[in-house]
Amino acid sequence: MKPIHMALTLAGGLLLPQTATADDAGHLLAQSCAGCHGQEGAGVGAAPAIAGISAEDFIAMWAEFQADERPATIMNRIARGYTDEEIAALAAYFAAKD
Ligand code: HEC
Repeated sequence: MKPIHMALTLAGGLLLPQTATADDAGHLLAQSCAGCHGQEGAGVGAAPAIAGISAEDFIAMWAEFQADERPATIMNRIARGYTDEEIAALAAYFAAKD
């Protein structure tokens, strides 16, 4: 491989999120939840603990928030900003925490 190609490949790997593993993606996405839900979803203040929710339950709750079928002050709006892939990555991330 020519050096310029290698440099482009490396840069692409750093810039494109789809080259990250699902685990990395979940970890990165979860940073935006920590402000309310605490580090690793442990729960603080008004935001419930979300660590340890099974991936299946997490995805079901998320769909309810998106559809306004689950009582919410803020999560209904937050839930709409995520793709299915991102939701799956978040679900796997928090399911693996306790
Ligand atoms: C601005 C604060 C805030 C942020 C940011 C936030 N949440 Fe929430 N979350 C809440 C609150 C408050 C609730 C309780 C429901 C409501 O009032 O909307 C909640 C509820 C939930 C629930 C349901 C828990 C249960 O047992 O009912 C899940 C799952 C959840 N949040 C996941 C997330 C994830 C994942 C992120 C990051 C992508 C996130 N939240 C970001 C405040 C927040």
